[in-house]
Amino acid sequence: MIVVVNFGGQYAHLICKNIRELGVYSELIDPQDILFVIKQKKPKGIIFSGGPQSVNDEAFLVSNKVIKYCKKKKIRILGICYGHQLLAKLFGGIITESKRPEYGKCQLKILENNPIFDRLEKTEQVWMSHRDEVIKLPTSARVIAETRSCKAAAVIFNDYFTGIQFHPEVKHTLNGMFILDNFLRICNCKKDWIVDKTINSITKKIKNTVGNDKVIIAVSGGVDSTVAAMLCHRVIKDNLICVFIDHQLLREQESTEVRELFQITLGFKNFHYFPTNVFIDKLKGVKKPEKKRKIIGLTFMEVFSNIIKRYYPDVKWLVQGTIYPDVVESRKKIKSHHNLIIPQGLSFRIVEPLRDLYKNEVRKLGKSLNIPDIVINRQPFPGPGLAIRIVGKITYKKIKIVRKADYILQEELKKSKCYKNIWQSYAGLLSSKTVGLKGDARCYGYTIVIRIVESINAMTADIVRVEWDILEKITSRITNEVKGITRVMIDLTTKPPGTIELE
Ligand code: XMP
Repeated sequence: MIVVVNFGGQYAHLICKNIRELGVYSELIDPQDILFVIKQKKPKGIIFSGGPQSVNDEAFLVSNKVIKYCKKKKIRILGICYGHQLLAKLFGGIITESKRPEYGKCQLKILENNPIFDRLEKTEQVWMSHRDEVIKLPTSARVIAETRSCKAAAVIFNDYFTGIQFHPEVKHTLNGMFILDNFLRICNCKKDWIVDKTINSITKKIKNTVGNDKVIIAVSGGVDSTVAAMLCHRVIKDNLICVFIDHQLLREQESTEVRELFQITLGFKNFHYFPTNVFIDKLKGVKKPEKKRKIIGLTFMEVFSNIIKRYYPDVKWLVQGTIYPDVVESRKKIKSHHNLIIPQGLSFRIVEPLRDLYKNEVRKLGKSLNIPDIVINRQPFPGPGLAIRIVGKITYKKIKIVRKADYILQEELKKSKCYKNIWQSYAGLLSSKTVGLKGDARCYGYTIVIRIVESINAMTADIVRVEWDILEKITSRITNEVKGITRVMIDLTTKPPGTIELE
């Protein structure tokens, strides 16, 4: 395996995910755990990620002990951006704020035929994002590549460790995957990480854990909970109770599709549908986003707990569709909405069959489990549903508007070439009305906002460049076909600074 040390850079997950895509299992760890983890897990190599801090400001989270240990045990290190500067500093170099910080694409000139650059041209497009720079190298170091404004763009330290100032993990470094793959070769890694082959070990583990106990899962029709349910169903069959709580904040036709999926397509006998208006009742008059989220979260737990107490009191285990980024993020408490939902007043034990996997890996598993493509490729949909896509107070009328507008948007996008690049797309509703003209008469109507983004893991997002013709058609259809809408706007904000959802 390869260990990726997460110094807080926004691309740390991307490095880890890319290494796995190259066929080698990889885990993301915190810097303070490094010695403990490498002694325990014996990785073939270590990657230091980028990070927002400066090696001059922070107390080092990695000491020379790590370097000595790695050299002794023949564990290679690749430092990226901050990780590169950290290696330079640990070996005695000097790092300062650069006079010419580089952000974006630039040309890398390769100066030495080093194995890390196998299969690369002499000049390569790479992507830089750094404020600090290594200005004096330690004596044990030699430069193997440079850019116009960064003389130490790639460096070999002590003939053994490699540091690169640019980011090989992002797609703007055109041959970045070769660099990561070369590092795996240098580390002598065996390419044996094939996610489909983990099905047997995951299902075996589930069976060994839960035995003949009754197990419950709340499904939403999303890929994570569906794959988690399928894995459990494979080995425990009808001992798995599948509960679908419909909070009435789902998209057009979604509720029917989810029921058909489980009951007909996947053949779950122990599947139970619970529609309820209680969520919308409790949200009546509530304006603030955080309050809405809290109400929905608490209500979900309340409803789920009541269902279990009333209908399934002998359940012992709760299955969660938690995936790897959720595990890492909740360790850091960045995103509370991704944390576990544990029903109140009940003592369960938790099963998380997907906790080591990235979304693309969950999708691969789903394909091997014969889950239909339409489900596997379904866009992520937030737990609070349309409630966080309607800004401010929620009413049945607004839900109806947003559902219809979203349906039109999806219908048109599915016909376009860019559909496969979309991570998430939706129509949201703003809270204030604007003036419009319908049939020569002045009218006041709501505004629909369209958001279409691409992303790798929802931590960052970029807008999808949809053709104007399609956007025009969507706008025209929404204003014509959805009653109460006078205006359609397009949200072109990246994340950060925006978020994917409106609230
Ligand atoms: P944001 O809006 O934070 O969303 O950029 C990032 C990703 O998370 C999804 N999301 C949620 N998922 N419960 C969920 O299960 C939530 O409360 C929630 N809020 C946002 C969002 O759709 C995007 O994929």
